[in-house]
Amino acid sequence: MLVRKATMRAHLRTVPKRFGDGGQGMSTCRAVVLPRFGGPEVLEVRLNEPIPDLGPSEVLVRTKAAGINPLDLKMRGGYGKSLFKPLLPLILGRDVSGEITAVGKAVSQLHVGQEVFGSLHPTAVRGTYTDYAILADEQLAPKPANLTHVAAAAIPFAALTAWRALHSMAQIRPGQRVLVMGGGGAVGLAAIYLSRALGCQVSCTCGKRSIDLVKEAGADETIDYTSEENIQGQFKGQFDAVLDTIGVEETEAAGVNVLKRGGHYLTLQGEAVSLADKYGLLAGGALAAATLLRKQVQYRQSHGIEYWWAIMRTDVEGLHEIARLAKVNKLRIPVGRSFPLTEASEAHRLRENKANQGKVILEAQ
Ligand SMILES: NC(=O)c1ccc[n+]([C@@H]2O[C@H](COP(=O)([O-])OP(=O)(O)OC[C@H]3O[C@@H](n4cnc5c(N)ncnc54)[C@H](OP(=O)(O)O)[C@@H]3O)[C@@H](O)[C@H]2O)c1
Repeated sequence: MLVRKATMRAHLRTVPKRFGDGGQGMSTCRAVVLPRFGGPEVLEVRLNEPIPDLGPSEVLVRTKAAGINPLDLKMRGGYGKSLFKPLLPLILGRDVSGEITAVGKAVSQLHVGQEVFGSLHPTAVRGTYTDYAILADEQLAPKPANLTHVAAAAIPFAALTAWRALHSMAQIRPGQRVLVMGGGGAVGLAAIYLSRALGCQVSCTCGKRSIDLVKEAGADETIDYTSEENIQGQFKGQFDAVLDTIGVEETEAAGVNVLKRGGHYLTLQGEAVSLADKYGLLAGGALAAATLLRKQVQYRQSHGIEYWWAIMRTDVEGLHEIARLAKVNKLRIPVGRSFPLTEASEAHRLRENKANQGKVILEAQ
């Protein structure tokens, strides 16, 4: 333990004022751990999880709030097992909002005491369901002062997914028309706000209960996905980009048909992870690359469009733009309910219920 403490101090430019549950120099903290794949009941609250040494560009964040994303529930159930099984136990959670307690020696833009929010990459093994989360400096931005930690923790993963798809991949431009399929969800709402901020006209599909929300986010036109409306017939060839958060056969068929030639169809339900889980990392990875290429060629020939599997990626420029928009009330993701960190299983249960609306957040006291 003595050696570990000495190493840790050598790595930190600023020794945290407060560590773990109190005493300076503690190297463990509370965390919600996933020891094996399964239902919400497998999540375990542990009091003495190690806090690893900080790398030069890493930041130690005292978690105030950690957002729950659908990915957390999927990972808990075994999604990504080809990658994660050998790495169990894991700490789930991508989103965080909290206060910096230490920074690595190469960190220059962030400092101890600053309130920040941000998100880990989808493949991170030590997540944010813990009192002390570790993120790279470029995965964090100052938390907008007008947001509570709970409100801030609802935003980054979903908004960065929308940013990745529409800004980085489809490169949407002012005046273009965007269709968001699943506008009432967290990624869908973020996509509407971002498209509007980028000067686009936005239509979306959503359920009746989400109509006010998507309009508030700036949707110019809403299509009730429970109605009999024929999207393909009504909007054929009209959009420059379609972000499909649902990604089933029907939405894909509709999505590719409402695009103009040269438009971009982006699904959040790419098959890379499920193929790797089924056939192993190597064979599954190769099959995924071949499947994607086949669909890209097929849709280029049949519809003249670009087809993509969009995957969330952390992006410092995107996060700062998201923070800027949130600061001027031009991006928000509604929170349904928050739970104490210790009730993560309960929170997952609520999140699994499709009747639940709004983000579910864990609060660390
Ligand atoms: N590829 C990636 O990197 C990535 C990143 C983030 C998320 N995702 C995935 O993207 C999906 C959405 O994530 P999220 O965080 O936005 O989830 P979410 O907040 O739970 O939103 C899901 C929403 O989908 C809507 N919906 C369900 N069926 C629909 C349909 N047929 N047509 C239109 N809307 C429908 C529901 O809206 P109503 O309330 O209007 O019914 C629901 O609110 C999840 O499957 C998630 O795993 C992937």
